[in-house]
Amino acid sequence: MIEQKENIINNSFNNGEIVIEIEHLKKSFNGNNVLKDVSMTVNESENVVILGKSGIGKSVLIKCIVGLIYPDSGLLKVFGKEVVAMNSRELNILRTRVGFIFQGNALYDSMTVRENLEFPLRRNKTITDPQVIEGLIVDALENVGLVDAIDKMPSELSGGMKKRIGVARTLILKPEIILYDEPTTGLDPLTSREISNLILKIQNKYKASSIIISHDLNCAKITSNRMLILHEGIMRAEGTFDELKNSDDEWISSYFKID
Ligand SMILES: Nc1ncnc2c1ncn2[C@@H]1O[C@H](COP(=O)(O)OP(=O)(O)OP(=O)(O)O)[C@@H](O)[C@H]1O
Ligand SMILES: [Mg+2]
Repeated sequence: MIEQKENIINNSFNNGEIVIEIEHLKKSFNGNNVLKDVSMTVNESENVVILGKSGIGKSVLIKCIVGLIYPDSGLLKVFGKEVVAMNSRELNILRTRVGFIFQGNALYDSMTVRENLEFPLRRNKTITDPQVIEGLIVDALENVGLVDAIDKMPSELSGGMKKRIGVARTLILKPEIILYDEPTTGLDPLTSREISNLILKIQNKYKASSIIISHDLNCAKITSNRMLILHEGIMRAEGTFDELKNSDDEWISSYFKID
């Protein structure tokens, strides 16, 4: 079923709980109406890919989800709680339950891989036992196949390795939701596929729910259970990869043309 309508609230992935619920979300910056009326949901264990042109507001949307940007109006609930109503303690808890993989790598260049991975644990302060911390770091690096890089500096790593370390650093707090902002941008096709498969592996292993923002159609194909297209401030289309790709609506299928 392909939907193209003003507001998309329902979904058809499974009967799992809704972990992210967004209705009529608005956000503007100095008269620039970026998000005009965005509605969407994400279910437990579901991977939702968001497509949309550069500058359309994809990063703004997912920054709202973790309270890095406050919307002007609308409903935004994560795990059933309004993000704008959260106090700083609740926001800290939210940010351990919702991992954010930023556009770009955002690794700390002056820290080793080990220190980069330790950082969220130290900030979170719930785990202090050095042996437990070491175990979590090794575990997270095993997940991304980079245990050997533990003592390296980011400058010694390739772009794809840095992305994987970024994923490992997010995984270390065992988030229930992961927001990936363009995880494969700037990578060669083979490395992009590796990252896409890693996203899929994480979904299967941890039953995590994810939003994946991507221009990479191969990544979208591999990772998505459902896709949304953000355009001019609203979600203009929803469906599976194949539904949207084969849509009779040329405006929708044009997003899937590679030439
Ligand atoms: N903190 C901010 N202050 C002012 N304007 C902002 C801010 N953050 C984003 N914007 C504006 O909001 C719009 C959407 O930006 P956003 O980064 O969400 O785009 P995007 O869809 O993620 O693009 P890309 O695909 O290039 O990453 C842009 O016009 C941007 O300039
Ligand atoms: Mg962006």
